[in-house]
Amino acid sequence: MIKITPRFSSITISMFATLITLTVVVTLGQAEISEQAKLGRHLFYDPSFGGSVDPRKATGFSCASCHADFESKNSDGLIRSGHSIIGVPNRKESQWEKVTPGLFQRTAGGAGVCYQQFLQAIPAKKVDPVAIPEDQAKALMAYFNYITQKVSLPQPEFTYAPLSREEARTEGDNILKLEGDKNRGWKLYGRSCANCHAGPKKRGIGSQLVRSRPPANIQARLHKIASYVRQGGYLMPAMGKDKLSDPDVADIIAFLEQIILAK
Ligand code: HEC
Ligand code: HEC
Repeated sequence: MIKITPRFSSITISMFATLITLTVVVTLGQAEISEQAKLGRHLFYDPSFGGSVDPRKATGFSCASCHADFESKNSDGLIRSGHSIIGVPNRKESQWEKVTPGLFQRTAGGAGVCYQQFLQAIPAKKVDPVAIPEDQAKALMAYFNYITQKVSLPQPEFTYAPLSREEARTEGDNILKLEGDKNRGWKLYGRSCANCHAGPKKRGIGSQLVRSRPPANIQARLHKIASYVRQGGYLMPAMGKDKLSDPDVADIIAFLEQIILAK
């Protein structure tokens, strides 16, 4: 017979107590995902958005093309133009002008703008943020709530601030002064541009960046590319320094320059 010493049993009890506490914490942390939140997750990854996207306008993007649904620091390698959607329900107001505080829930935290502009290429001025079907907006919000409750994050910096043409030009000047690393540039291109510009010589939803006819003025061409990243366009969201630093963009430019010159 094994004699249980008081010392041993008190350790056993405290181990049990820890185990029970852990089980409770883990179970609470992994709250069941509701059917509605599950639908929200499907929509988040679906370029047809549950079939509600007009197939004649579809860009082929899903929300996941531009936003992570995990903490950005657990990066999967892609550099997305939008931010992680964790924490969206805590913001209470949207950065999009058309989304008044009263429309925050109805547009799933402003996602209704992206639904029109980025999934269906509707020009920013014509976007109607409540065109997103109400049940789909609710499902998205349920998913945002589900992933937000599991993670406690300080309020992240998410403001979308594309630069004006003038500001972007100055940025272009600064970037072109830097010496880029073309090998690193290809990797950064793959992670942040290839999603839309399949390769430098292939178009995706974005333009073919390196044409077969070399540009008359290579420096001017490189300057345009650098400033375009900061300014953004009609469908291309601008990327700030939080996404790509000046040296990062300089590396991408060095990579593209090499391909232009290789012809
Ligand atoms: C082509 C890229 C792109 C796609 C696709 C896209 N978004 Fe966005 N989204 C952005 C950018 C850029 C912003 C502004 C910067 C930011 O807040 O991350 C933004 C902002 C947001 C915001 C914050 C709005 C606010 O008012 O602060 C939410 C929520 C959001 N998107 C959700 C979605 C959802 C849901 C989808 C899918 C229906 C989607 N986005 C598709 C690029 C995109
Ligand atoms: C979410 C998709 C998307 C991403 C990511 C993206 N682009 Fe674009 N880009 C586009 C689209 C679409 C256009 C066409 C014009 C417009 O709608 O803005 C474009 C246009 C451009 C243009 C102007 C057209 C031209 O050929 O002169 C440049 C330059 C450019 N992109 C560079 C880049 C670079 C460099 C990156 C990576 C740092 C990048 N883009 C990432 C979608 C994207």
